[in-house]
Amino acid sequence: MSDTYFVTGALGCIGAWVVKHLVERGDRPVVFDLGGDPRRIRDVLGENGLAKVQFVAGDITDLEACKRAVAACQPRAIVHLAGLQVPFCRQDPALGARVNVLGTIHVFEAALAAGVRRIAYASSAAVFGPSEDDGTAVAESTQQAPVTHYGVYKQANEGTARIYWLEKKLASVGLRPLTVYGVGRDQGLTSGPTTAMKAAVLGRPFHIGFSGPTDFHYVADTAAAFVACADGGPDGALLYNLHGDTVDVADVVRTIEAECPTALGRITIGGPRIPIPPLLDGRAFARDYPQVPHTGLAAGIRDTIARFRKLYAQGGLDVRDLPAK
Ligand SMILES: NC(=O)c1ccc[n+]([C@@H]2O[C@H](COP(=O)([O-])OP(=O)(O)OC[C@H]3O[C@@H](n4cnc5c(N)ncnc54)[C@H](O)[C@@H]3O)[C@@H](O)[C@H]2O)c1
Repeated sequence: MSDTYFVTGALGCIGAWVVKHLVERGDRPVVFDLGGDPRRIRDVLGENGLAKVQFVAGDITDLEACKRAVAACQPRAIVHLAGLQVPFCRQDPALGARVNVLGTIHVFEAALAAGVRRIAYASSAAVFGPSEDDGTAVAESTQQAPVTHYGVYKQANEGTARIYWLEKKLASVGLRPLTVYGVGRDQGLTSGPTTAMKAAVLGRPFHIGFSGPTDFHYVADTAAAFVACADGGPDGALLYNLHGDTVDVADVVRTIEAECPTALGRITIGGPRIPIPPLLDGRAFARDYPQVPHTGLAAGIRDTIARFRKLYAQGGLDVRDLPAK
């Protein structure tokens, strides 16, 4: 039997892969997003898959619109990904709070009103502030003050989820990825490595604007994690770090160059480190959701480059995240 899942922010990078995951196993995703171009979903799922997706244009800052949309499709669960990333929250903190904090409350309210019992939502490793780079893996319970509005908003959402569990028994799982990469990752603080893979396919130069190590998570695995958490798991308001591979961005560039020799010396790196501890302790998630795959970094980069090459060959590679030639 196929189930309906309500996915907010599904026109974005992780959302497109969540939609792909659901369609490919025979379920029905309902995309709730501001509206506009479903290009990321088309890029990962293809034109035929896209035809199986239901789209509802709506804004999570509009409580009534959220309630109407959830009530209309009566989903088994909600995957809540809609949000503004670090640079957008920095640019307009008030809008960032309306979308990320108030919007999240609206999604929980809409779930309650429609009798939905489970939400998997995107928190972020940005809830942790910078740490001493001593190689210590950061566990879920670690206390480190975030240094961005975005991180503070994600902390607030984790608190919101806890209160909905305490007061209403609405179960949720908040996942904290750090640097998600793969096709569709074309905006946000840590999108540079993915854009570098695209530039490599085109033989164009590219500069990645941050340096040092970070925790890379392949987007197909990220999507599988959200769907697994929407499907089930321990009851409560759970929080998990997502750990992929912690490497220096320079190692990622070397892997790209090995895959695409024409990129040799054309990808440069420079800029501050990401102000988030680079190594997340992902053991709790692996223990509770052992079915979720872990794609190694080299395999993830290879798959991403192969997908970009295929899109390019089909004339469908979106290059708007690359600097003008
Ligand atoms: N990409 C990462 O590395 C990463 C890491 C940690 C956490 N996250 C979180 O995961 C979630 C998804 O990330 P992503 O990379 O797919 O982001 P994205 O920017 O690619 O997509 C976000 C989507 O949210 C939609 N959206 C924005 N405001 C909205 C609103 N008011 N109403 C409805 N939809 C709205 C956008 O249109 C977009 O399609 C976000 O909450 C993000 O903060 C991402």
